Amino acid sequence: MSNPSQNDLSTIDVVLHEDRKFPPPEGLIATANMRDPNIYDRANADVVGFWESAASRLNWYRHWDTALDWDPVGVHARWFVGGTLNASYNCVDRHMNTWRQNKAAIIWEGEPGEVRTLTYRDLYREVNRTAAMLRRIGVNKGDRVAIYMPMVPELAIALLACARIGAPHTVIFAGFSAESLRDRILDSQSSVLLTADGGWRAGKIIDLKGIANDAVAQCPAIKKVVTYQRLGSAVHHVQMEAGRDIWWDEALDQTKETYIEPEQVDSEHPLFILYTSGTTGKPKGQMHTTGGYLTDVALTSSWIFDIKDSDVYWCTADIGWVTGHSYIVYGPMANGATCVMYEGGPGFPDKDRYWSIIEKHGVSILYTAPTSIRTFMRWGEEYPNKHDMSSLRILGTVGEPINPEAWMWYNRVIGKENCPIVDTWWQTETGGIMITPLPALVATKPGSATRPFPGIVADVVDRAGNSVPNNTGGYLVIKHPWPGMSRTIWGDHERYIKTYWEQFPGIYLTGDGARRDDDGYFWLLGRIDDVVNISGHRIGTMEVESALVSDPSVAEAAVIGVPHEIKGQGIVAFVTLKSGNTPSEEKAQELREHVAKVIGALARPEKIYFTAELPKTRSAKIMRRLLRDIAEGRVLGDTTTLADPNILAEIKQLYEDEQ
Ligand code: PRX
Repeated sequence: MSNPSQNDLSTIDVVLHEDRKFPPPEGLIATANMRDPNIYDRANADVVGFWESAASRLNWYRHWDTALDWDPVGVHARWFVGGTLNASYNCVDRHMNTWRQNKAAIIWEGEPGEVRTLTYRDLYREVNRTAAMLRRIGVNKGDRVAIYMPMVPELAIALLACARIGAPHTVIFAGFSAESLRDRILDSQSSVLLTADGGWRAGKIIDLKGIANDAVAQCPAIKKVVTYQRLGSAVHHVQMEAGRDIWWDEALDQTKETYIEPEQVDSEHPLFILYTSGTTGKPKGQMHTTGGYLTDVALTSSWIFDIKDSDVYWCTADIGWVTGHSYIVYGPMANGATCVMYEGGPGFPDKDRYWSIIEKHGVSILYTAPTSIRTFMRWGEEYPNKHDMSSLRILGTVGEPINPEAWMWYNRVIGKENCPIVDTWWQTETGGIMITPLPALVATKPGSATRPFPGIVADVVDRAGNSVPNNTGGYLVIKHPWPGMSRTIWGDHERYIKTYWEQFPGIYLTGDGARRDDDGYFWLLGRIDDVVNISGHRIGTMEVESALVSDPSVAEAAVIGVPHEIKGQGIVAFVTLKSGNTPSEEKAQELREHVAKVIGALARPEKIYFTAELPKTRSAKIMRRLLRDIAEGRVLGDTTTLADPNILAEIKQLYEDEQ
């Protein structure tokens, strides 16, 4: 979002007036991991000292010399400078000499129904073997490892094995296309790819290895591809290339070592790169480092979800997204939590799959997405009501603003009005949760993520960077560095500065709009840049536009997000065809599939409108804002800068005819 000032904050103005308030349950006030009401003031009085005490939760080989070294001009934040540690040690080894070695670390359910439980001891063994295997195939400290896998325990193991040897991982969500995978492998300069023969989703096989082969064919730097057999050759045949490809199990069997000494890495050593969509076609590789990130996610996991040894915690996200990195793997495991992991879709074999998992494993903490909650609402209460879910005690949401109606349903039908809901606002860039209730301390309001986490200095400002009065929309910014923050965009520090730090020097621009109410609660109002939030996942409109234009029949395309009942937002594209091509329903369908193929199914447009031209300024910039006005039935904003105002009337007519 290089220039947010071009956006009109009035479009994200106050839409919610919500007065219902839900105080923390009595029981929790007495027992929660964080129950000191003074914590906010204490943290604010000494932000760096607050995070420093949080870092003491981890095991360090060498204590840091300086807690924070912050250069706001070059935008370099270094946390716990001089300290050394290992993330895999902190998530696995340190539970070995305690009773937790025999505690379940991962309770995994495959979509077809099989269950595998790995204790922390099992996890320790597997992480060591996998780390040894990675070493043997030539992965050294600092080398990037790309991971494209289904939700199987080996995915979590792979992350921890990479961390163990100091090799930054870059996980690519298994729903992404060959092209998206290729781009991320190339950008991260990964030399090894870990993948699988496939995975299950909604009763169907996803051919991950076929996609991986297409991607790797264009990635000359990939020396080895290790393939985990999730399906087995009886179910699915895959193409292996001699010399490059090895089976996961065979590679493990050929590895003799059973213990790999964890690398004692610098606090600022890269732990992973994770790609996010931006306002240009090229995804941004957010680089997270070890000491600060782990401190952040370890503390937030403990306080926000109140994870105790008696809990069974389930985050339904995929490890391919940041939520899975921070709140399935690193945060919960640093706390020795028992984590449920589920491979497949929520509607398989029936619409009560989630609720059956909760009942079967006694899940006590559930962390999921508003889009899922809206789907469950539509499916009906009879599905959750079939199951005993009395084990639940805390509910969470993430990924997009939750509409109060969905919040109330979640509270009543799933939580039985007995479980606090933590609506957590954060981003791939922030590493950890930033705005959220603490369940024993903050009364919740449906639709508000409530207060900044202690040690997070958030504000809502106007274009000039001044704090806006309560109940006024503005830019959500973070005014003090925090340990989980992304340190740079991989290979492009300039872009990192430009995107997040240039608008307000020394202040982090989130890209979201927000307002604060009279209680100091934050209400998130959605993106202020050209990013669409589909089911809690970010897609840049530019990415979809580039995908459309890559089709030989397309001359130009403009993409916008429109409200969508289940997904939060859906993608609508306005397309101009090259001469010789005729608009038709088939053409629209073909282009929708083309986008799904180029980026992934997530980005498939809901609707494509063919128009003779697109509304542009005299300097040829497409005015998406006006297209949004049309799509949302608003009075058209300022059209005086348009090169040809007639075009707009035509598009408006086209759109209205369809409604
Ligand atoms: O717009 C905000 C929305 O999701 C964006 C971050 O997306 P991503 O990096 O993919 O990470 C998603 C998981 C952390 C934010 O800029 N968002 C995320 N959580 C919330 C939210 N919007 C409102 N309320 C939330 N709780």
